[in-house]
Amino acid sequence: MILFKKVADLQDYLQSTDKKIAFIPTMGALHAGHTSLIKEAVKQDQLTVCSIFVNPTQFNDPQDFIKYPKSTDADIALLADAQCDILFLPEVAEVYPEGADKTKAYSFGYLETVLEGAHRPGHFRGVGQVVGRLLEIVQPDFLYLGQKDFQQCMVIGKLIAQMSGEKKTQLIVCPTVREADGLAMSSRNRRLTDPQRALAGVIYQCLISIQGKQEGDRFPLVQKECFELLTAKGFEPEYVNIANADTLELLDDYDPNQKEVALIAAKLGNIRLIDNMLLN
Ligand code: PAJ
Repeated sequence: MILFKKVADLQDYLQSTDKKIAFIPTMGALHAGHTSLIKEAVKQDQLTVCSIFVNPTQFNDPQDFIKYPKSTDADIALLADAQCDILFLPEVAEVYPEGADKTKAYSFGYLETVLEGAHRPGHFRGVGQVVGRLLEIVQPDFLYLGQKDFQQCMVIGKLIAQMSGEKKTQLIVCPTVREADGLAMSSRNRRLTDPQRALAGVIYQCLISIQGKQEGDRFPLVQKECFELLTAKGFEPEYVNIANADTLELLDDYDPNQKEVALIAAKLGNIRLIDNMLLN
């Protein structure tokens, strides 16, 4: 694996390849969810470029940014093991040479007002800004993202549609990788205490119960049960919703005529966890 810290060096290298370029942006503290994206691109015989950059502009909670886990040496070992070709590890000044304020920002309309958009003001602007900038730098053929961040995938889809430039990047969304108890892998899981970790699988159990509804079940009742279960286990649930999986329009009740996704966000202590599951 080759490590680049400078945009110009990375771009020089990428210009010399004939292979299709796969890009996997991350914020580090890597786990098997991240490496599943790299492995998928390696399987397609693409040149895999992974970035590690903890983007300051997407953290609505300053404490979350300060406490974001870092493990660069272990990350490098994991990436090499997954046969990643290139690691891009830039400083803030490489990503935002004129300052983040002067870097192009995009808007995502409705998606900024609902679920993660509503609960994390400014978050998707920051995600759009950094991914837009990274796409400009890397100009990949394929962009690999995890379904774990369902709404982020929709936002980035909209970003690509808005970006100019001759090369259109194709978005590939890969399935969520989970721990044995169903907990979606996440860098933030490292911050859970052992007792919190032992409870964290409840979010997955809620998604399974939403998915496993029987004929005649009403979603509001299932939603209430999920809120009660999460609260009883010590979570602070932020939302438990079902939505149209193409538009993220929230649904009042199950609707067999729509493609549905269930989405949950809940805090355990100071740690905010999100997860989702397609229903049909
Ligand atoms: P990060 O949370 O590091 O995630 C990087 C990529 O890994 C995202 O596409 C995310 O959806 C995917 N991922 C995380 N956990 C996963 C899991 N359990 N299974 C499958 N994929 C998983 O998401 C970000 O960073 C940032 O917002 C970023 C897009 C890099 C912009 O800063």
